[in-house]
Formats: sequence, structure tokens, C-alpha cells
Amino acid sequence: MINAQKIVLSDDMYCLGIESTADDFGVGIARSNGEILANAVESYIPVEGGIHPREAARHHAEVANKTLLQALTTAKIKPKDLTAIAFSMGPGLGPCLRTGATVARTLAAYLQIPLVGVNHSIAHIEIGKLETGVTDPVTLYASGGNTMVTAFESGRYRVFGETLDIALGNCLDVFGRQAGLKSQRGLPLGAAIEQQALRGKTLIRLPYVVKGMDLSLSGLVTSAVTQLQKGNHSLEDVCYSLQEHAFAMVTEVTERALAHTEKKEVLLTGGVAANNRLQEMLRIVSEEHGAKFNVVPKKFATDNGAMIAWTGFLAYSQGIVTPIDESYVKLRWRVDRADVPWIN
Ligand code: ATP
Ligand code: FE2
Repeated sequence: MINAQKIVLSDDMYCLGIESTADDFGVGIARSNGEILANAVESYIPVEGGIHPREAARHHAEVANKTLLQALTTAKIKPKDLTAIAFSMGPGLGPCLRTGATVARTLAAYLQIPLVGVNHSIAHIEIGKLETGVTDPVTLYASGGNTMVTAFESGRYRVFGETLDIALGNCLDVFGRQAGLKSQRGLPLGAAIEQQALRGKTLIRLPYVVKGMDLSLSGLVTSAVTQLQKGNHSLEDVCYSLQEHAFAMVTEVTERALAHTEKKEVLLTGGVAANNRLQEMLRIVSEEHGAKFNVVPKKFATDNGAMIAWTGFLAYSQGIVTPIDESYVKLRWRVDRADVPWIN
């Protein structure tokens, strides 16, 4: 809900943000001047396979208390000093979103302060802008659950291209699991693939599917698994080829959005942003178009509460508050359906 009344923020205002769209439960605290005072995250690690939404939600409920306390202690903030409570309203997994929303509603009601529902994808972009100093980028947001190229145009963040099936991070994770790679010492499967790919020498031809401005990754991952199972190629070569194809696809779409919009900045965010080869490809095309390439620092690239807290402030400054009885979560809330009145 938009309340037309803008709020003048003063430096002693603090927003607590709760993130719970998927496997991470995060609590961040931001100050209205953009300082991030705390960014506590607890991750649910499935015993095997991918994320089970209800199991992840159960995890979030269990760690909510300790994560909240950790964030407040780190920030040296008392609950009564908070100005607003922001939460990830969508898109994401229903049970996970609802757990975070319940914690947020309880806090806002108890403290009698405003609740602000935040679009998770927009939060990824806004924390990137805050941390890197870019103002008007073409953004590639590539994570376990999302892959999209966005830029601000005519009052909204517009989606210039996106995956038609699975996300880039999911593509890597599915292959990694099928290939028997294990995430060791908290190392994500995407990072394990990146290490293998460094030793790859031969590029194997795999499906490369860009349709208009959108892309498809499910055929690529199936084909990569088949190539590996046939036993004609080394794991290193398949990892290398998988990365080259998948990253070239997202880079092509990003480049075309850049050529179309003529923006001067490119921003890479989401968990896959940690990948050096992806960064390299995007840096090359950015420079070819005279644009500056930026990547979000790792702790703000994956899902985190700080990005929700900061975006909550941006919304709240424009008078956006979410009444508790309208604070239902939106599982498929697209970026191009969210108002961003703080951008002009
Ligand atoms: P979202 O809800 O935004 O989709 P998520 O929890 O699914 O978020 P993130 O935490 O943003 O995803 O990112 C996790 C993904 O990032 C995983 O798919 C993981 O394999 C991938 N990843 C992490 N490090 C690397 C790396 N170095 N190279 C490639 N992929 C990586
Ligand atoms: Fe995310």
C-alpha cells in the first residue's frame, strides 16, 4: 500500500530487515544513511538433494530467535530504537516466506512500528547499488532461484530477459549433484564446479539456447550430465564447457540489454556473482560498450537481511507501509510489478 506522505529520514533511524525466501534466514539492520550495522544469516542445509520448502521453513522458525538476537547485539541496537520492520514479501517459496513474514508481523505489532513488505529481487539490486555506488545499472541477478536481466525504465525495473526454465545457480547445482560433487566446508556446488572448470582444456559442444532476449538452461544441464555419463570426457572438461555455455548465454542477454538501453553501468548480483569466469565475461562486454562493470560484495550477493532492511528504508522514505492485514506474501511477485517511487 502506498501512503502518499513521504517521510523525512533522520540519521538516528534504523530498519530491521528479515529475509526468508529460500534456504537462508537472514536478519539485517540498516541505518537510514546506508550504513549496514548487522547482517546475520543462518542457512538451511538439506541432508541430500535440493531445498525442501517445509523443511527449510521449519529451520527458519527454529533459528529466528537467535538470528534476531545476533543482529541486534552486533548492531548494538535495542528493539525500541527501531523505526520500521521490513521483510521479504516475495518472490520465493511459500512456507519459507510465510515464516519470515510471521516473525516480521509479530515484531512490528509488538513494537507498534510500521511493517514494510519488500520485493526480494529489487532488494538484490538496491543493495548492489548501495555497496558499489552505481546509480542506474543494467543488472544481471543470477542465483539459485532467479536469473534475470533488469534495468530501470519508465518508472519501474523492467525485465529485459530471463530464464524460461531453471535458474543459472540451479543449473550448476543440479549438474554438481548429478556429477557427484559435494559441497565441502560450506563451499557451494557452483564454486566446486568453478574449481573443476579451471582445469578444463577442451570445449565440448553443448546446447546454447537464447530465444529473443530469454534463455533456457534445462537442455544444457541434461546434455552436460549425459556427456559426463557417457565417459568420453573428463569432469573438468564438462564443468568447463557447462560454464562457458551457460555464462555466454547470460552474458549475451546482458549485452543486448546494455546495447538497447545504452546504460553506462553493469551490476552483477546473486550467489553466482562469486564466479570469476562469469565476472570476466561480463567485464569484457561492459567495457566494449563503454560501461563500468560492478559486482556486489559476496556477503551481500547471496540472500541476506541487510538488503531487505535497506530497501525497506527506501520504500518507507516514500511513505510505503504494509498494513498487517494486507501483508500476505506474494510467491511470484515480479520486479516489473513492484513500485519503486524512490527512483526518479
Ligand atoms: P534466490 O532466492 O535469490 O534465488 P538462493 O538462495 O537460491 O537465492 P543464492 O544464495 O543467491 O541463491 O546463491 C546460491 C547459488 O549460487 C547456488 O546455486 C550456488 O551454487 C551458486 N554459487 C555460489 N558460489 C558460486 C561460484 N563461485 N560459482 C558459481 N555459482 C556459485
Ligand atoms: Fe535472492
